[in-house]
Amino acid sequence: MCGIVGYIGHREAYPIIIEGLKRLEYRGYDSAGIALFDGNSLKISKTKGKVSDLEERSEKEITKNGSLGIGHTRWATHGVPNDVNSHPHASNSGDLAIIHNGIIENYDSLKKELISRGYTFQSDTDTEVLINLIEDVKKKENVKLGKAVQIALNQVIGAYAIAVFDKSKPGEVVIARLGSPLAVGVGEDEFFIASDASPFIEYTKNAIYLEDEEMAIIRLGKEIKIRKIIDDSLVDPYVQELQMNLEEIEKGGYEHFMLKEIHEQPRAIRDTYRGRLLRDEAIIKMAGVEDNMKKFLNADRIIIIACGTSWHAGLVAEYIFEEFSRIPVEVEYASEFRYRNPVITEKDVVIAISQSGETADTLAAIKLAKSKGAFVFGVCNVVGSSIARETDAGAYTHAGPEIGVASTKAFTTQITVLTLIALRLARAKGTMSSSDFRLYLQELELIPQKVEQALKVDEHVKQIAKEYLLSTNCLYLGRGYNFPVALEGALKLKEISYIHAEGYPAAEMKHGPIALIDDRMPVIVIATSKGHYEKVVSNIQEIKSRKGKIIAVVTEGDTAVKEIADHVIEIPDSEEAFSPLLTTIPLQLLSYHIAVMRNCNVDQPRNLAKSVTVE
Ligand code: G6P
Repeated sequence: MCGIVGYIGHREAYPIIIEGLKRLEYRGYDSAGIALFDGNSLKISKTKGKVSDLEERSEKEITKNGSLGIGHTRWATHGVPNDVNSHPHASNSGDLAIIHNGIIENYDSLKKELISRGYTFQSDTDTEVLINLIEDVKKKENVKLGKAVQIALNQVIGAYAIAVFDKSKPGEVVIARLGSPLAVGVGEDEFFIASDASPFIEYTKNAIYLEDEEMAIIRLGKEIKIRKIIDDSLVDPYVQELQMNLEEIEKGGYEHFMLKEIHEQPRAIRDTYRGRLLRDEAIIKMAGVEDNMKKFLNADRIIIIACGTSWHAGLVAEYIFEEFSRIPVEVEYASEFRYRNPVITEKDVVIAISQSGETADTLAAIKLAKSKGAFVFGVCNVVGSSIARETDAGAYTHAGPEIGVASTKAFTTQITVLTLIALRLARAKGTMSSSDFRLYLQELELIPQKVEQALKVDEHVKQIAKEYLLSTNCLYLGRGYNFPVALEGALKLKEISYIHAEGYPAAEMKHGPIALIDDRMPVIVIATSKGHYEKVVSNIQEIKSRKGKIIAVVTEGDTAVKEIADHVIEIPDSEEAFSPLLTTIPLQLLSYHIAVMRNCNVDQPRNLAKSVTVE
């Protein structure tokens, strides 16, 4: 994780870097720092805390002029979040400065070696080791900065996206990547460096995404030169035109990004199926699936790999794939899969789901599956991300940038893409009749409208939130398609409000969680009319008999649950397979309102980061 930003050009670098860091704070917010070169000296200001704390500190500490600078927002790995461990880190001579996203795994042995040669260290970070290693190589080998970076990186084990600056050679920044993302915005006589394109979107739409094991020397007035770290060979820069625009990464009048993104879901789902779901022709068109239809049809099974909320979307997909296309599905945490020597064959299709497309565990699991001959299909939101590039084929979710750390629209659009794939395969395999297929297409097309209607419960949910904001525990129950929604509802609550919450299959409650129920335990139950309704109503009765408080998500027009639940939240009726797209809405709103009322930082919950690029 961690966000990195750099600028070299003709504008004042400070405001570009500060604004850019704010946009990258989703990647980590334990500390922040900046290094500016004003033509003569290198000024570093850094502090524990957020970018706003950095602004306050740099106001007092540094003059803010200079058109070359690098900045960093940190998610701590090595060393606690404090001022000293914040980036940028300077080398012992004070000539070199570095920002780094990733982990240098062999930093300890490198550090010992450097100490034995007289180097001293102020921080506990692996990054300070790297910058001194670069300095050491530069002196020993008597080479320029670019070469020194290259030689040093060949001695390093781990992951990195770095930007390095040498004050004795101003006008140049050296960057490199392995396992952590790095983009370069190419403007008129200026370059922007960042973990993603959001910091430079208003300055240029031209971006180069560095590939793993590539480095670049960026010099003012020169073309960018990209080389392979391992053998120094030149790589042709591929300049992409960005589709993102500024409004997409602003709050647009909402108090928080999370609330904006919750409300964007009707649009996001529509964008996700636009051009793919052709109701009149009764077809689903997805190039990545069509081109690889044989692989899907010959698959013995589908293995879904993902982390966090994306894993929950995978669980929903398991129900949908098995129901519609009758292909056995296994859903795995990428972090477990990659380390447990799984049985994978060439007849497996692996679907990797990731909003960011950068999650380190998911990326490693993909590489493992590919090495065993499986066909790997990616479902990502971020265009051009590492996972999108590493997979054999894929489909984007088109949710637009998701900035709130708690994932919302990514989840519903992932389910939408996976549903489209399952429906397409169902037709190709003949496991669904053409009339059912038409019906499902029609129903899916109505989902955005229904999500809009579901969003109208906002004020009602806010009132419910007031009654439960002081709870210390919460239980979420659901069955079938809505069991994963219960898991996701519980995850949302714990992520942003720090209330302990557990999701459980409703019927499993009696095997343990029922022991937790008393008059202080809110239980959120998803009880849609088509999903094992009577059984879930019985579970609600069991909870009521033990004085638990019931908040039930029901289909509009429900009568039975209304009589027993403490609160009901109505959502529109739909095909049961599509109900997760609706039942998840009130659960997102509930956790949002509880977190706001508890004064929690909704968009940047403590200890979390949106893009987890370390193991
Ligand atoms: C982090 C984020 C979650 C996300 C998970 C997987 O934990 O905070 O919101 O679900 O990573 O991320 P991915 O980008 O792979 O979907």
